[in-house]
Amino acid sequence: MEKLGEAKASRLVFVVYPFQGHINPMLQLATFLHSKGFSITITHPQFNSPNPSYHPEFTFIPVTNNLSESKLLPGDLLGDIKVLNKICQLPFELCMNKMLEKEDRDNPISCVIYDVLMHCAQTVANRLKLPGIALRTSAAATILSYFAVFPNPLEKGFGSLLDSMAEEFSTELQSLKLKELHASIKTEYPPDAVLELRAIITSAIKDSSAIIINTMSYLEREALTKIQDIFNASIFPVGPFHKLAPTVSNSLLQEDRSCISWLDKQAPKSVLYVSFGSIVSMTEDELLEVAWGLANSELPFLWVLRPGLVRGSDLLEPLPEIFKKRVEERGCIVEWAPQQDLLAHSAVGGFWTHCGWNSTLESICEGVPMLCRPFFGDQFLNVRYVCHLWRVGLELEELEREKIVKAIRKLMVDGEGEEVRQRAVEFKEKAKLCQIEGGSSYCSLNDLAEHISSY
Ligand code: UDX
Repeated sequence: MEKLGEAKASRLVFVVYPFQGHINPMLQLATFLHSKGFSITITHPQFNSPNPSYHPEFTFIPVTNNLSESKLLPGDLLGDIKVLNKICQLPFELCMNKMLEKEDRDNPISCVIYDVLMHCAQTVANRLKLPGIALRTSAAATILSYFAVFPNPLEKGFGSLLDSMAEEFSTELQSLKLKELHASIKTEYPPDAVLELRAIITSAIKDSSAIIINTMSYLEREALTKIQDIFNASIFPVGPFHKLAPTVSNSLLQEDRSCISWLDKQAPKSVLYVSFGSIVSMTEDELLEVAWGLANSELPFLWVLRPGLVRGSDLLEPLPEIFKKRVEERGCIVEWAPQQDLLAHSAVGGFWTHCGWNSTLESICEGVPMLCRPFFGDQFLNVRYVCHLWRVGLELEELEREKIVKAIRKLMVDGEGEEVRQRAVEFKEKAKLCQIEGGSSYCSLNDLAEHISSY
């Protein structure tokens, strides 16, 4: 893609939601827009701060003092969103005011691009009369789940709007069971807190002048159509973001690349890659079921055992000696891996994932079939897409060692899993078509760059 003309030497201010699964896609998008000639400023809370040395081409501005771990709890979605928006709004506004005062005539700020979970940025953009662009780093359907599943009780009766929206949904959207998703979230948080958050985020999206989504049209055609019906803003489905800036790492943890040489020694498509992303945690008992499921499957595995994965325990401590022996024979364990490189490696034949959206897209792009075990939030929605609509993965219903063995062998070697393996390959081809000249994401990216230049 070529750079645009003179007019777009403007500055884009990004607002980060400070968790790995959000930092990666935002910086990947920023890298792409920088390549199109825009100047980039990344504003972020001082918590899980992105490493500026990975991006010397950007300006990084922390908008808060160091936030203590006690204020933010990875996995407490509602609590974290509330705290971060409360703490960041004023400092972000002050920071924007300072930037606007010093504004460089050749490099004026043209808009604010914020993770929708940092909705306070749209409030600030409104006050400063700057365009705000909402960035959704997860599936497009999650935007519908805010709108349809968490309707604002002040607009219409809660139940009636939910039902009327659900009736309007196509079969595809109905099979995502957004209503059930709502029920699962309701048990975790007080309904009022969920409704309040829904109202705030939906109102920010309504005020935004564009919505950028990390998705591909062929994956979520119906959700995208519905979103376009609901919101006035232009929609840009320009994913997968990780293919926009494939060479840059944004990891908060050190990647252990030794696992690549281990993979080099394994047979093609023989290894199950196992990772539950950057936030999920499990009990010691659950960890043991995973470990024995892997050992008893009799297949090679590469497992990311991230610090913090087991609640209240040191990393390998809960694993029995006999399992560690199995690892020496047939496995490899690392604390954090270069995931995209692993998924692209010819020895990897399957991915056991929690179905975070980034992991889901990264797996699809490499044609790797998935074994899915969601833990919270949008992961349940992603599993429905992967296992029931796209059929490029199998759902693991229970974390129990015998069930795990059966599921792993079905995914990796048994004849029963052949259709899923085949479809995963087809989906990889479709993903490639989106990205090449004339493909849906390629065209949408060009439209996005032109749209921003028009501000
Ligand atoms: C969070 C939520 O849990 C998820 O549901 C939501 O969709 C996004 O935000 P996370 O749990 O970290 O994200 O999962 P995911 O979206 O898959 O993102 C993890 C990222 O970390 C991926 O880009 C993956 O490539 C990277 N990763 C993971 C590594 O680089 N190395 C690893 O060892 C593991």
